[in-house]
Amino acid sequence: MALTERSALYRRALELIPGGVNSPVRAMRAVGLDEPLFVKSGEGAYLETEDGRRLLDWVMSWGPLLFGHADPDTVEAVRQAALRGTSFGAATEAEVELAEEIVEAVPSVEKVRLVSSGTEAAMSALRLARAFTKRDRILKTAGGYHGHADALLASAGSGLATLRLQAPSAEPTTRSGEALGIPASPGVPTGAAADTIVVPYNDLDAVAEAVMRHGEGLAAIIVEPVAANMGVVPPEPGYLEMLRRLCDVSGALLVFDEVITGFRVARGGAQERYGVLPDLTVLGKILGGGLPLAAFGGRAEVMDLLAPAGPVYQAGTLAGNPLATAAGLSVLRRLSDPAVYDDLERRADLLEDGLMPFGRVQRSGALLTLFMTDKPVRNFEDAQGCDAERYGALFRHLLEQGVYLPPSQFEALFPSTAHGEEEIERTIAAVASFGH
Ligand SMILES: Cc1ncc(COP(=O)(O)O)c(C=O)c1O
Repeated sequence: MALTERSALYRRALELIPGGVNSPVRAMRAVGLDEPLFVKSGEGAYLETEDGRRLLDWVMSWGPLLFGHADPDTVEAVRQAALRGTSFGAATEAEVELAEEIVEAVPSVEKVRLVSSGTEAAMSALRLARAFTKRDRILKTAGGYHGHADALLASAGSGLATLRLQAPSAEPTTRSGEALGIPASPGVPTGAAADTIVVPYNDLDAVAEAVMRHGEGLAAIIVEPVAANMGVVPPEPGYLEMLRRLCDVSGALLVFDEVITGFRVARGGAQERYGVLPDLTVLGKILGGGLPLAAFGGRAEVMDLLAPAGPVYQAGTLAGNPLATAAGLSVLRRLSDPAVYDDLERRADLLEDGLMPFGRVQRSGALLTLFMTDKPVRNFEDAQGCDAERYGALFRHLLEQGVYLPPSQFEALFPSTAHGEEEIERTIAAVASFGH
């Protein structure tokens, strides 16, 4: 009965919504399924689906839910805020309080602006970098995902990489592995992509060569300091330091996209964990505690170019929305307790140790991927070399046992404080029952 019901819902969705989903990776095609999960509710580490299944969730809305689903403190903060009004389109005290929390937590951020999605934050940070440097070119890494703005889709990870796996189309590269200006999706104008340079992640020579070649016109290097949209690929020693030096020498701004790593791999994000400070930082996910909220921030002299302080236009009807801001405040205020991160680290350690016999586990803090390979994964090419078919089979095996992994090899598991030893042991046992 349950299955027909779900199928009927999916059929309705397909008639009304392209592909039946509002974000492509939810379709679960990369793991060999042709129906998305329809979620009814969530609590702690668990989801309930419309067809009555209870699933142990390692996706956690792709990262935002550090304290689990329906976290009581977050829910209460949102409820209280809603009672006072859901949107004003005017300044509020809570926005100032949230800005104070962000500036206090994230080492390089002196001033910050709130927006509603990571896509918007990354796009706006780059506009600002271009305005500050009066240059056009940007450099990103292959497999880095920074939302779906035109200029940033070139060789992007996450859902785009997952789609590519199903319908590969080569993006030409030069011998050094550098690619230039290839629109990655129909609808991206050639002009929008022409100023995007793509180099492999973790490759010091390729990025140094590209900066040498394009340095004078380079506005920014944008990078996930721990790549997490090709599966988790931590930076090799010296890599982030090298990006910092190349920016200092060329005058480009260093932009860390910490949408995933922010408030996760440490309270102050990867910049705290690895000790390298960018000029601008892009934040999202945990920042909004599961509500639509993101931000970009950085050096005051750069941020003050934003309207109305300066000439760079950027705006949003729902920016700093009171419900999202209340959720963010509720979460961020609890993160100043170091016990939260000690706890997450311990749980992620346990999970990593337990999964190690079954593939290659790569991790930074409470962020990890089980790659279907026995070799190190240093970059997007390595990630694409993993056995995605086998990952799909593992995913389906675990789903049958009530454990929901990310539905793509190119995504991370997102442990939360709601994932206790019981959940970790159950997951390891389920993976073990799939075999080596
Ligand atoms: C590193 C990174 N940057 C930007 C984004 C885009 O954020 P959003 O989906 O909120 O637009 C994502 C989304 O997963 C992300 O992982």
